[in-house]
Amino acid sequence: MNRIAKTPRPSDAKLTAYDRDHHLHPWADMEGWRSDEYMRVNTAEGIHVWDSKGRKLIDGPGGMWCVQIGYGRAEMAQAIAEQAMRMPYASPWSLTSEPAALLARQIAERAPGDLNNVHFTTGGSTAVDTALRAVQFLNNRLGRPDKKIILAREKGYHGSTYLASSVTGKERFKTKFDNASELVHFLPDVNPYHRPAGTSIEAWCDAKVADMENAIAELGAGNIGAFIAEPILCSGGVIVPPEGYHRRTWELCRKHDILYISDEVVTGFGRLGHWFASQDVFGIKPDMITCAKGLTSGYLPLGALIISDEVMERMAGPAGEAVFYNGYTYSGHPVSCAAALKNIEIMEREDILGHVRRVAPHFQTRLKKLGETYDIVGDARGMGLLGCLECRPELPNETYKAHARFGARLDEVCEEMGLMLRPYGNMAVFSPPLIITKDEIDEMFDIMEAGLERLTAEYNG
Ligand SMILES: Cc1ncc(COP(=O)(O)O)c(C=O)c1O
Repeated sequence: MNRIAKTPRPSDAKLTAYDRDHHLHPWADMEGWRSDEYMRVNTAEGIHVWDSKGRKLIDGPGGMWCVQIGYGRAEMAQAIAEQAMRMPYASPWSLTSEPAALLARQIAERAPGDLNNVHFTTGGSTAVDTALRAVQFLNNRLGRPDKKIILAREKGYHGSTYLASSVTGKERFKTKFDNASELVHFLPDVNPYHRPAGTSIEAWCDAKVADMENAIAELGAGNIGAFIAEPILCSGGVIVPPEGYHRRTWELCRKHDILYISDEVVTGFGRLGHWFASQDVFGIKPDMITCAKGLTSGYLPLGALIISDEVMERMAGPAGEAVFYNGYTYSGHPVSCAAALKNIEIMEREDILGHVRRVAPHFQTRLKKLGETYDIVGDARGMGLLGCLECRPELPNETYKAHARFGARLDEVCEEMGLMLRPYGNMAVFSPPLIITKDEIDEMFDIMEAGLERLTAEYNG
């Protein structure tokens, strides 16, 4: 008997009410959370989702920067079901499973250099948290209890646990949460778009490297444990630091024995056309890499911290004195690991990394054209299959108070035409599933052009 089919589904109105009355969403505004109505998505296929009103939309954000292989993959559902039937859970404290062992190996093979050691987590925040705890662990082990400050960056986003949110440099002053602020030092905004007028990109890069040098001089290398950096600051608005910045800051870290943590939660697993961007795109070999999201293409939750052999050797110590007391009930969850293995298999079989490298130049060309064509766009930036439109700050029209509404308004008008974007204040960001074709990229940008036409008329009207 098919019980699911016989259970009457609640009406749309009821579901909306249940969600409003009981579901506290991430980043809910406490003033208005009971009046917010979230779009309810019912089905999805490829790069499209269908909402409860039957509208078909291109998923511009790709879930939340994560649906690399696209939706509706029957073989993925099957792999998940098979693993759930065979062995749904194994305590990572005392047991292991075939998917966890295989996946650890596959990640190590794809990570740069000697990053061979994989600690599984439940997502990105817990991977970052683990990295920061590993820094503390290492320096306590080495008898350097003061070497704990984390250099992080304004506009960086690293997650929602206590430590990960503490090193997050986004709008932190607006939050009512506490932070481990004594452990963090923020380096100023690296966004080339916000450099002072007349400053060249090269001079901006020098200034950003100098920000780090000055922080090290001021705080003392003996007090700094690590630098944490996203290769591209994605949630901060797809900020691509100036060329050479990564290499030079990494070299500074090496020189001062400051661990380099590359947060590849978004850039990992194909977003820039490589398994990991740190070495292949930016020429650096971090001490630790965090990943999540694209690791399973969002089909199930999973994250990982990858640690170099060098750091592992330094963390080692006499039996019983160096126990890495960190881990989660769902670390290395067999079903999540099976999903990640299937994800890697599909990405490899369909050469999705190569596909991203082939279509990304077209994506970026169409993106740049939006910046050149529409006056209301101050900056159109991105890399790989990552894009952001930032509103011009000096727009005159009062009705738009403006910029704060730009992302939401552009998303609204694009949704009417079949494209969902991710609004973020004066910006709209997008990172579609990696399987997106050249024609679908054109469709996406045609809609954005039509949307910007409408916004231009509104701004001028
Ligand atoms: C760079 C980066 N790090 C960490 C996180 C946190 O990941 P999660 O939401 O899976 O905990 C995110 C989430 O967007 C992210 O973009």
